[in-house]
Amino acid sequence: MKEQLKELETEALEKVQLAEDTKALQDVRVAYLGKKGPITEVLRGMGRLSKEERPVIGQLANEVREHIQDAIDSKQNSLEEAALDKQLEEEKLDVTLPGRPVQVGGPHLLTNILEEIEDLFIGMGFEIKEGPEVETDYYNFEALNLPKGHPARDMQDSFYITEELLLRTHTSPVQARTMKQKDGEPVRMICPGKVYRRDTDDATHSHQFTQVEGLLVDKNVRMSDLKGVLNTFAKQMFGSERDIRLRPSFFPFTEPSVEMDISCKVCDGKGCSVCKGTGWIEILGAGMVHPNVLEMAGYDPDVYSGFAFGMGPERIAMLKYGVDDIRHFYTNDIRFLKQYHKV
Ligand code: DAH
Repeated sequence: MKEQLKELETEALEKVQLAEDTKALQDVRVAYLGKKGPITEVLRGMGRLSKEERPVIGQLANEVREHIQDAIDSKQNSLEEAALDKQLEEEKLDVTLPGRPVQVGGPHLLTNILEEIEDLFIGMGFEIKEGPEVETDYYNFEALNLPKGHPARDMQDSFYITEELLLRTHTSPVQARTMKQKDGEPVRMICPGKVYRRDTDDATHSHQFTQVEGLLVDKNVRMSDLKGVLNTFAKQMFGSERDIRLRPSFFPFTEPSVEMDISCKVCDGKGCSVCKGTGWIEILGAGMVHPNVLEMAGYDPDVYSGFAFGMGPERIAMLKYGVDDIRHFYTNDIRFLKQYHKV
């Protein structure tokens, strides 16, 4: 019996040493020390031994069990240490390697243009106003001298939400809103914002784009004031060598109405493909606020007069930076955007 136990011990210790992972080690433990293992078997059969043998074998069996258990424990420790060493080796970092460059974003080209326009007009004493993108038919059209059924409504194909609500087709409603708010006091504001039209997207059209509206109302405001402000704006935005010209036009909310051109930067006014041979490029619409518009907003047109203008920042950016497709502003191709990041 003693020899049998000793042999079991040697055999078990060898297997412990050979175990390559904790799973194998666990198998050895179950095989030798488990409920159905040979040591348990010996201890169970103690009853059959003589009185003298019982304590000796019992003690030996316990010793053998302890030795095997100790060997398993220390093997377990060394397996865990080895696993940890391996993990550390695998996860080793070379902290001296150069870092990956971080891509830094920047404001969108349109944001920059809008800020530039805002700064320019703030410099001339204008304040910035905002209005809702979901607008009432009243402010989008009626208050701007475009009653229901007016043919000029067709100039702006609209997204209607209900009979009386629509996505604003221009920023002009903010003129009427601001005048209402100022309640007869002089106004000098610009309003940048998004506008919507039922247009099919192509290189020069978009169902959603940006406008900047301008409005100045006071006593004795004249057309020459409008021209002075627009001239200052054009020269600061496009360069002092640029000339402007005003052409007669029609807008229901202004009388008289004009469109403003700037002399073509590409050919310096001589005529080229960009300006279609005319030497001029249209950049905005403007005019003297129509007496009906003043009156509807509570201003006496015999005392007050004003001018208004509306421009498209996309168009301004396209001219200033030679962008040839309006869709570039909205598709957010990083290769396009990156070219206009300010450093
Ligand atoms: N609202 C006009 C448009 O979207 C632009 C415009 C023209 C605005 C003349 C004005 C203006 O304030 O006076 O086409």
